[in-house]
Amino acid sequence: MLPYGKQTIGKDDIEAVVDALKSNWLTTGPLVSTFETTFSQTVGSQHAVSFSSGTAALHAAMHAAGIGRDANDEVIVPAITFVATSNAVLYQNAKPVFADVNSDSLLIDPEDVARKITPNTKAIVAMDYAGQPCNYAALRALADQHNLVLISDACHSLGGAIGSNRVGNLADFTCFSFHPIKQITSAEGGMVTTNSDPATTTLKEFRNHGITTDHRQRESKQQHQYAMESLGFNYRLTDLQCALGLSQLAKLNRFTRRRNDIARFYRSLLKPIPHVNPLQTRTGIEHAHHLFVIRWDQESTGLSRDQAFEQLRERKIGVNVHYQPVYQHPYYVNRFGDQTGLCPKAEHAYREILSLPIFPLMKEEDVRLVAEQLQAITQAKPNTLSKAA
Ligand SMILES: Cc1ncc(COP(=O)(O)O)c(C=O)c1O
Repeated sequence: MLPYGKQTIGKDDIEAVVDALKSNWLTTGPLVSTFETTFSQTVGSQHAVSFSSGTAALHAAMHAAGIGRDANDEVIVPAITFVATSNAVLYQNAKPVFADVNSDSLLIDPEDVARKITPNTKAIVAMDYAGQPCNYAALRALADQHNLVLISDACHSLGGAIGSNRVGNLADFTCFSFHPIKQITSAEGGMVTTNSDPATTTLKEFRNHGITTDHRQRESKQQHQYAMESLGFNYRLTDLQCALGLSQLAKLNRFTRRRNDIARFYRSLLKPIPHVNPLQTRTGIEHAHHLFVIRWDQESTGLSRDQAFEQLRERKIGVNVHYQPVYQHPYYVNRFGDQTGLCPKAEHAYREILSLPIFPLMKEEDVRLVAEQLQAITQAKPNTLSKAA
């Protein structure tokens, strides 16, 4: 099976982790701050604070943004995203309010965000779906107008940019994930970038039980006392993971170039296939191409998206679907009621989207094979939709 995503691990990555294993610090050691400093330099932010996952990073960003300080706080999130984006709002006892997406890009629609703002809204979350940066200019204007915090869920978009502004420096807080299929990996891991000094202190405390110093700081001062000043978690990233993250970060540009080459090749091969429509890319942006998403035209093929999914998998093409609108998940339906119809463009898109394999190690012949199979499945089984319905 050709997977839809896969890590790229080299000898240098393995050596970096082995070196960390042989050092005195397996966690809270010097590689944590080296990774953070190198990461902030890479994305152009003033600060970077590492976390044990992208989910922990989102939770910490919500906390640092003050979400949940008032009862009835609301945060606007896109309907199409991984559940972690809106779960982070729930962790802070606030309410996620879902905004629809633009049909051509599946990025959060600033016009629908504007419609969903109420006196209880505290923040907007922009999620850079598939690796494409959102319309941050429009979202920033709304955030400034209504005094809201702008949080970027950039778990797909490390390496992306708008003009010369890199993802990581386009919002008040930007959250990244280093899960294996992401742009770079630390196995599990995450990062928050920000330009705020006080928020950086809050983020560091939050990942360490709400304690104001870490183990290494106390060791260097020969101190045993510590003060827990707020309620936090153990969300720390280990030195082993930071060693891997650092080694991977050095290859980010190469990985991003390769993903973009693969995406370009897909676009040229898919152009003549009328029932396969890749999402559109906004002008002036640098796409990070975490995913390559197409819309499957079931009307003209007679095959539903799920039938296309099954047939491609039978042909060893590991396609996937990102994502069902979050409010359709059973937990959200049980907690907030049936919100069907809330975001019609997201609901429609969910019936059509397919993520094709894309990862730096993919070869040209793999891309060709995916395009050939996409072409072939409609010819193999015409008009099965009406039979299946
Ligand atoms: C959009 C989005 N947000 C958040 C996350 C959570 O990241 P992690 O898996 O590192 O917790 C992911 C990861 O899959 C994601 O794709």
